[in-house]
Amino acid sequence: MSVSSCSSAIHPFSAEPNPEKPLLLGCGEVHLWCVFSDLIFDVNLLKKYKDILSVEENQKASRFYRHHDRQQFLLTRTTIRTLLSLYEPDVAARDWDFGKDNYGKPFIKNYHIIDDMQFSISHSRGLVVVALTRGSPIGVDVEATNGNGDNLGLAKRYFSKEEYANLTALPIEDQNKRFFDLWTLKEAYIKACGEGLSIPLDSFWYEFTDGGEMSIDFLPIRNDCANAWFFCQLYPSQMHVISVAVKKSEIENVADPIVSVNKYLPLMYAETVNCVEY
Ligand SMILES: CC(C)(COP(=O)(O)OP(=O)(O)OC[C@H]1O[C@@H](n2cnc3c(N)ncnc32)[C@H](O)[C@@H]1OP(=O)(O)O)[C@@H](O)C(=O)NCCC(=O)NCCS
Repeated sequence: MSVSSCSSAIHPFSAEPNPEKPLLLGCGEVHLWCVFSDLIFDVNLLKKYKDILSVEENQKASRFYRHHDRQQFLLTRTTIRTLLSLYEPDVAARDWDFGKDNYGKPFIKNYHIIDDMQFSISHSRGLVVVALTRGSPIGVDVEATNGNGDNLGLAKRYFSKEEYANLTALPIEDQNKRFFDLWTLKEAYIKACGEGLSIPLDSFWYEFTDGGEMSIDFLPIRNDCANAWFFCQLYPSQMHVISVAVKKSEIENVADPIVSVNKYLPLMYAETVNCVEY
């Protein structure tokens, strides 16, 4: 597993679709897009976002009671639509058509246009994240780590016995980070599999060595194997952790995907950011 913290922008590029220069996403690549939602104060920009959404999406947005939730929904939908158009500039952002499968996993209905593109979306306080790849199932999860919830209570309820025991054995000052590492890794795996919480949360578990190396293991009912998976984690701000899970292939020695991390604000800017691996 690779773990990175992100710093300043290194490579700005146009946030407008360019038919002569579509963004390219090769096989074996993962593009991660981070949108810091607290950066939006411009009412005119929000109006432009509304114009990109479908009628149904705008209706759903208007049903959110809290301004913040409404804004986050608007931003999330605009982000996935405008991003897809950066890769496929011939399709206008408002023309993407989405469906949801029986587990709630969204998919692109006019899929044939954008060959084998797979995506996963996550949002938490202050940050929307979209992960894109080709051909392989992908899941992403982001969490804000500065809440004051009952983490150990949640861990006892949702984590496997091994994960809970290992978490509580850590020094107290390390438990918050490990809790969110585990939570986001579990969610990322669930989202890549696409079956939602029908996957028993104790049917797979992660272990960390003292050196920070992570491994996954499964109960036989999952019929899954660790070699088939690539995981990475990022800390894009002081208060966010992102985990990504990509199902590679069960064939031995398939290379890990190459991950690039980008900061994005729809219609405003797009830039690759520098990530330091450790
Ligand atoms: C819905 C779920 C897939 C993720 O929910 P979440 O972590 O609360 O929310 P996120 O923002 O990370 O992800 C939501 C997005 O996941 C996507 N999604 C929904 N169902 C999905 C599925 N079955 N598979 C993959 N992605 C899915 C959607 O894009 C959704 O965004 P949208 O609501 O704007 O359409 C599911 O895992 C869940 O309900 N989790 C609840 C939390 C929990 O108990 N976690 C246990 C962790 S140990």
